[in-house]
Amino acid sequence: MPKLIFIGSNGNEKIVEAENGLSVMEVARDNDIDIEGTCGGSISCCTCHVIIDPDWFDVVGEPNPDEEDMLDLAMGLKPTSRLSCQIEITNELDGLRMTVPEE
Ligand code: FES
Repeated sequence: MPKLIFIGSNGNEKIVEAENGLSVMEVARDNDIDIEGTCGGSISCCTCHVIIDPDWFDVVGEPNPDEEDMLDLAMGLKPTSRLSCQIEITNELDGLRMTVPEE
């Protein structure tokens, strides 16, 4: 199973195993990471915002246009920001590092 590394706003890292096919948001919620995912993945909130480690952004890829519009409303937006409900877990993402911004 791929492993994901979530970095909290306090700098603490949490490594979790992720099942392929789930979204990063779902994995975060299942593992008590501080990501709400209020809309359940329908791109109508920003509560699943994560900042992807720049070294990983090419692997994860750019946000889709709807996601980009929603991200414009996110607090602390960064060039590598993504909505975690729109990132599907694959083996390629093994070792992915991302920061969970403080909302
Ligand atoms: S959970 Fe609402 S946009 Fe991701």
